[in-house]
Amino acid sequence: MSDVAVAAAPAVEERATTPTATESVVVLDYGGQYSQLIARRVRECGVFSELVPHRAPVEEIAARKPRGLILTGGPASVYEPGAPRLERGLLELGVPVLGICYGMQLLAHELGGRVEQAEVGEFGRAELTVGDAGTLLRDTPHEQTCWMSHRDAVFEAPPGFTALASSPASPVAAMESTERGVYGIQFHPEVVHTPYGQEILARFLTEVCGCEATWSPASIVEEQIARIRAQVGEGRVICGLSGGVDSSVAALLVHRAVGDRLTCVFVDHGLMRKDEGEQVIATFRDTFHVPLVAVDAEQRFLERLRGVTEPEAKRKAIGAEFIRVFEEEAAKLSSAAHPGVGGGAVAAGAEAGEPAHAPARFLVQGTLYSDVIESGGGTGAATIKSHHNVGGLPEDMQFELVEPLRALFKDEVRAVGAELGLPERLVWRQPFPGPGLAIRVVGGEATKERLDVLREADHILQEEIRRAGLYRELWQSFCVLPDVRTVGVQGDERTYGYVVVIRAVTSDDAMTADWARLPYDLLETIASRMIGELREVNRVVLDITSKPPGTIEWE
Ligand code: XMP
Repeated sequence: MSDVAVAAAPAVEERATTPTATESVVVLDYGGQYSQLIARRVRECGVFSELVPHRAPVEEIAARKPRGLILTGGPASVYEPGAPRLERGLLELGVPVLGICYGMQLLAHELGGRVEQAEVGEFGRAELTVGDAGTLLRDTPHEQTCWMSHRDAVFEAPPGFTALASSPASPVAAMESTERGVYGIQFHPEVVHTPYGQEILARFLTEVCGCEATWSPASIVEEQIARIRAQVGEGRVICGLSGGVDSSVAALLVHRAVGDRLTCVFVDHGLMRKDEGEQVIATFRDTFHVPLVAVDAEQRFLERLRGVTEPEAKRKAIGAEFIRVFEEEAAKLSSAAHPGVGGGAVAAGAEAGEPAHAPARFLVQGTLYSDVIESGGGTGAATIKSHHNVGGLPEDMQFELVEPLRALFKDEVRAVGAELGLPERLVWRQPFPGPGLAIRVVGGEATKERLDVLREADHILQEEIRRAGLYRELWQSFCVLPDVRTVGVQGDERTYGYVVVIRAVTSDDAMTADWARLPYDLLETIASRMIGELREVNRVVLDITSKPPGTIEWE
């Protein structure tokens, strides 16, 4: 898979994600499986949060002016050589600290409590018995269930701390010292299997840290618009639209901020789903009146794909062609009157800002918070890698990046999209790979004929999945067309047609995936429609491979 790095990233300080007007809580990541989820749950409480690696210097954390700190779980034992330590300076920032799982063990160990390996670890559901509920567990039941995942446990709270609860394998499953402003819970409040988890987090945030629950994805729209205006000034901006939710929301935000000084470029490579190109154009040009250059590049891409069968070669060919087309359009946009731009918008925008022939200096990228975290949590990461991203641009294109989604998780981007009036179909669009249907015509060349068969089969699948109300539940659902024909019989006639594979998966992040258990009746409807409506298809099969060992895509 191609990873294209985008250069010309501005200095780290300029790229801090914290919205200026909002209070925030810093979640220090000790490597736990649920660290991102903790950050999201904090935001669900109406408090902005940032996930920062535990190695981040204390000064950097202080500079974010957090109202509180949360130390996450992690895979280590405090007794392991090289296990992450507690940076003492964190306790001197004068803000409350909550340790979760490893985070709590670390606090207990460093502050003079006793952490030991228990006979048995606790993994999964556990019964929690609350004694003195203290501040943290106040108003929650005496007996409750929670979710645990640990081997070491706290046997004795540090001096000056109150032990609040216990579980069968954790003598101290929650503790606090209101005086020191230090709190700890052994269980995971962020997972749904801890029914009072969200309440406990909310209490820490509002009562202990004194945060006001005012943050919401929508609340940052105005703020982002102000930021974009400050960054771009009177400059011109271009944005590559793919039809996906990230680039769509990013484009709309930038359009709200700078109006027609934004031009979107939509490269239709002919490898989209049925009608999707038209939908993108209709939405942006006709509904939102965003200046849009739509390039019908199907022929170019088909030419380029001729004779290419090897999966990586296909990706590379499409990636290279995409860059070429995008560069050509960007160059054209630097010339005065570009006929392809909707509504003469470039000329109109130019009156207020730079002259119409001024080249665009800014490029919109739909970088998400998860990308920021992956590349170092905004602490020193100067280059963003766009994984798999065929729309990645070459290093010598010296644009300054405008990244209005840098602070948002995917579900928050959707909420912002809905807030901006983006149609439901775009807001909830399942992920779709940059190289499109070409990597779903497998084992052979992606010809126009095969792509069309695949597009029609896929259209039937999408229609039926939506009709069954399952579209949002699935991470992805699509068809694959192997370069294989099989024998069948229809009426009195022997047929020799294509096999269509149905691939539908559930997943949280595409790193792992499970094949979706679609109802038999639905599968039957889909298969009969495909065979009945598509002359070229005479067999439909279902892919029941999870990831790992399979990948989601076939190529
Ligand atoms: P795999 O097939 O590796 O895919 O399990 C994981 C996720 O990435 C998507 N994918 C791509 N996205 N360009 C993209 O923009 C690509 O070349 C590409 N290959 C895979 C895939 O659809 C899934 O969501």
